Amino acid sequence: MTARAAVLSGLGGWVPPRLVTNDQLAEELDTTDEWIRTRTGIRQRFVVDAGMATSGIAIEAGRRALRSADRSRVDLVVLATSTPDHPCPATAPEVASRLGLGEAPAFDIAAVCSGFVYALATSATMIASGSVDTALVIGADSFSTILNPRDRTTRAIFGDGAGAVVLRAGEAGERGAILGFDLGSDGSQADLITVPAGGSEQRSMGLLAPEDDYFFDMQGRSVFRNAVIRMSESAGKVAERVGWSVGEIDRVIAHQANVRILHAVALELGIPVERLVVNLDRVANTVAASIPLALVDGVVSGHLQPDDQVMLCGFGGGLTWGAAGLTLPSLSVEPLPGLPLPTRPPLPAALPVPAAAR
Ligand code: UT7
Repeated sequence: MTARAAVLSGLGGWVPPRLVTNDQLAEELDTTDEWIRTRTGIRQRFVVDAGMATSGIAIEAGRRALRSADRSRVDLVVLATSTPDHPCPATAPEVASRLGLGEAPAFDIAAVCSGFVYALATSATMIASGSVDTALVIGADSFSTILNPRDRTTRAIFGDGAGAVVLRAGEAGERGAILGFDLGSDGSQADLITVPAGGSEQRSMGLLAPEDDYFFDMQGRSVFRNAVIRMSESAGKVAERVGWSVGEIDRVIAHQANVRILHAVALELGIPVERLVVNLDRVANTVAASIPLALVDGVVSGHLQPDDQVMLCGFGGGLTWGAAGLTLPSLSVEPLPGLPLPTRPPLPAALPVPAAAR
């Protein structure tokens, strides 16, 4: 008998119905489909309609993950999000309640685009320690609600969505076991990804900040460079911890921010780009939802197969990063609503990796 471990037993994802293509963005901003596709690999994104908050999309994904696991109760709900419905309280308790999960402990984790890996590590560790036997882990963000409507760069790359997994107690030797993690942060670079106003720092001064300070702001180039280095280093550490050589990593699901970042991560790790799972062309950068949504597409397209040794790696504001290694179980997963089935291989044509990332 091997050690107690968290085992992946359900998976689901959801994107809101409103599709925005690159051409539609170009009608209101100084950008082009060609610029967005060649610089990022993104073709379209989905955004929430007025009145739909993060809880709404998180619930849809959570419901699908519970169905996939054939389960109606869990002991724990963890929601990774940086766009909670309200600054206070956390969104997870409302999500748990509206999913009919009773009085299960529920809390949010805010680690921006690394949030899902942080939430997965937290939940899996609670299961491995014996504190709980089951968990629903959701990554959900409606980033369109915090983007500056005049910022062509961030409007081009972000989309809304939610992805979720169900974990259950099992053994490290089982298919689906979460085998190891790495997490890290560097707060000295917090200003690279930020919403400057609206928090306690600005509110303590009692003054209204300039309007643009209430929107998301990102230093794209520095973020790009950090993302490549941190995700590949973190994935390398997890591979070492779980005893995989690089060649034994069957698939890498890295945060879907930019296809050039994904290619650079593959290059750094020394794996062929065909081992990357890519769905940012269809859903863009969905922040905390990005990794579980790519998992959904990978399973639905057949690009991910049972027994695959899969490396998840995330990077985001904070700065924060993390990676997790698992073997894939056999899962019954519903395709994302409103999207044609992903093509296989789901990889946009190779794009040059900028010198900044080397
Ligand atoms: O999810 C959290 C982590 N986030 C990321 O990992 C994002 C990482 N960063 C990136 O993916 C890229 O840096 C971006 C896609 C955000 C930007 O691409 P880039 O190749 O780094 O472009 P840049 O910011 O260096 O800008 C190059 C030019 C600028 O014009 P000038 O100054 O050279 O005249 C920008 O104003 O491209 C311009 N530009 C655009 N042009 C047309 C920026 N956004 C756009 C746009 N359409 N949407």
